[in-house]
Amino acid sequence: MIGRSPLHVAGTIRAPGDKSISHRALIFAALADGPTRVRDILASADVHATASALRAMGVDIPALSDDFVVHGRGLAGLRSPTQPVDCANSGTTTRLLCGLVAGLPGRTVHFEGDASLSRRPMRRVAAPLTDMGARITFEGAPGHDGLPLRVDGAQLKSIHHVSAHASAQVKGALLLAGLASGVEVVIEEPSRSRDHSERMLLARGVKLEVSERSVRLPAQQQLLASDVIVPSDPSSATFFAALAALADSGELRLENVCLNPTRTGAFDVLQRMGVRLTAIDERIVGGELIGTLMVRPDVLRGTTIRGAEIPRCIDELPMLACLASQAEGETVIADATELRVKESDRIRAVVDNLRALGANAEELPDGMRITGSRGPLRGHVVTHGDHRLAMAFGVLGAVPGNEITIDDPDCVSVSYPSFWEDLTRATGGSSPSAPVEPEGAADGSSGHQAATRMPLVIAIDGPAASGKSSTAQWVAQELGVRHVDSGAFYRAITLLALNTAGDPETWQSESVLANAARVTWRLTERSVLPLVDGVDRDHDLRDGPVTRQVSRVAQMAAVREWVNGLVRGAGATVDVVVDGRDIGTAVFPNAQLKVYLTADSWERARRRLVQRLGRRPTDAEIAHETEELVARDAKDAAQSVAARDAITIDTTTVTQQEQVERIVALARATRSRLGRPF
Ligand code: S3P
Repeated sequence: MIGRSPLHVAGTIRAPGDKSISHRALIFAALADGPTRVRDILASADVHATASALRAMGVDIPALSDDFVVHGRGLAGLRSPTQPVDCANSGTTTRLLCGLVAGLPGRTVHFEGDASLSRRPMRRVAAPLTDMGARITFEGAPGHDGLPLRVDGAQLKSIHHVSAHASAQVKGALLLAGLASGVEVVIEEPSRSRDHSERMLLARGVKLEVSERSVRLPAQQQLLASDVIVPSDPSSATFFAALAALADSGELRLENVCLNPTRTGAFDVLQRMGVRLTAIDERIVGGELIGTLMVRPDVLRGTTIRGAEIPRCIDELPMLACLASQAEGETVIADATELRVKESDRIRAVVDNLRALGANAEELPDGMRITGSRGPLRGHVVTHGDHRLAMAFGVLGAVPGNEITIDDPDCVSVSYPSFWEDLTRATGGSSPSAPVEPEGAADGSSGHQAATRMPLVIAIDGPAASGKSSTAQWVAQELGVRHVDSGAFYRAITLLALNTAGDPETWQSESVLANAARVTWRLTERSVLPLVDGVDRDHDLRDGPVTRQVSRVAQMAAVREWVNGLVRGAGATVDVVVDGRDIGTAVFPNAQLKVYLTADSWERARRRLVQRLGRRPTDAEIAHETEELVARDAKDAAQSVAARDAITIDTTTVTQQEQVERIVALARATRSRLGRPF
């Protein structure tokens, strides 16, 4: 901690309402026959998705505010929506409502969601519901067991379901299905998942039998209306507990936090890591334990998180992992495969981002291993639109000395719309309202570690054989900045796959990416150099076997995502010239200068042959090569479009030297516009 200004925290944070309870408050209010007053609900994107879905089914739900009334008309008041229901990013909306609709004969609902939600597995609810007699149809690509899907409600039969996952969403879906159809439901879980559904049903007169790892809903239950006061979300409060843990001085008071024991795993972990955390003013409100947490920093040490503790802190693991990167010693998170099917693959995403920032993290099949240090963290975080990633890394970014930018700070609206304002308050105004994206920071804003001057990124795109790689290298040299050859990263992972993944014909992205942790990079004077097991293998990367297989690997979406992450990490650290096929669109959408090189296909074919053959090719040879290039262009069409803000240079009749001169001139103009001349 020496050599950076200290972080002091102070004040009171009242995190917004609990997300799980908010969804259920609306659903149970809709099912009751009569008015339910709802106070302090979380008005976030996920909960709006549940409210809109229920409205589409005929429920009278006013605009979400701190205090409103839902006039439920019971199960009979629910009808089929006229349009597909958009669950946006919300897994809880989808799974709970699938259960409810499945048990309502005569009602049909089409469920849709955003790209992240559409990737998440829905068979875990669809399978037991189908065993009860539900009619659920996956409407996506063959074999895809996620959204979009259609539920045709039916009279269901009872079920005794032994669940493979400790999942409150699956449990909640089956309870709602049983309630809707009036049939008995028994659910056994491997360990206990959050029990808000149980508590709320009991509070509404439903005769539930609850034991440590099972719950039984008897047939033919009536649900009464009961008002709700939503306590603050412990998952959201955890970000501020972690901030206090990272501080050098001060204390945070986290008010009104839901301390339901199925949700407090993260607080237990924090205490084990050395954080001074005490609960005061504990009381029961609406069947939930609520209290105030006082959190103070102390020396942080690593820990192990596994087994039955995992469901108790599943949503907090990204934050705990980030905290572990700052603790003394090693932290291991295991038995957490579920993290892979959350809003993003949170194992891979957390590890990749920690590594991109310079932390020591390793992916495990069911978790991760992190070795802490208090060295400064610098770089760009790719959230994949995952709110918890944005907030976890946002907390790290609030520590003086760290320079962290976040690609999509707005995604916090899924669960904590006022997160950045609260972060600013907790750090006494020293934190920015949101760590800005590269473009935002390049306008000269300064004053905080997360908003310091962003490196300059010059992105050079173009179709196959447009000469972008050699031009980029030359431009970098002229400007005296580093060149990132994204192709070299594809070559590095291909080299490893050749040694470990067997017959290339059988390669899958999983087998190729099994070696991902072995590829890192180092800054040399001229370039961002990929390393394989810490070693520069440039010579082997250019070898025939790698050249023959690299395009197979470069076509795998997951591999592209991984390379993009590495390249973004480099571009967040130093000024770079970077080339690649989707560099200006997918990888650096905020690059300050984007150039798109193009040339007619005959000319591109001719240049490629000159390079390959070392002589002037014949027209017949060029014609043959042109055909191949055009075919490849068609295949790459999705990746090879120019960014809308790219400057196109048609190089058909321009020498490479002229191309380089033009790009260098553009780069100089860009830098003087940004007030940073070369
Ligand atoms: C939730 C249950 C958990 C949790 C999610 C909310 C709920 O998911 O991760 O954020 O409200 O029921 P699983 O049920 O898939 O574990």
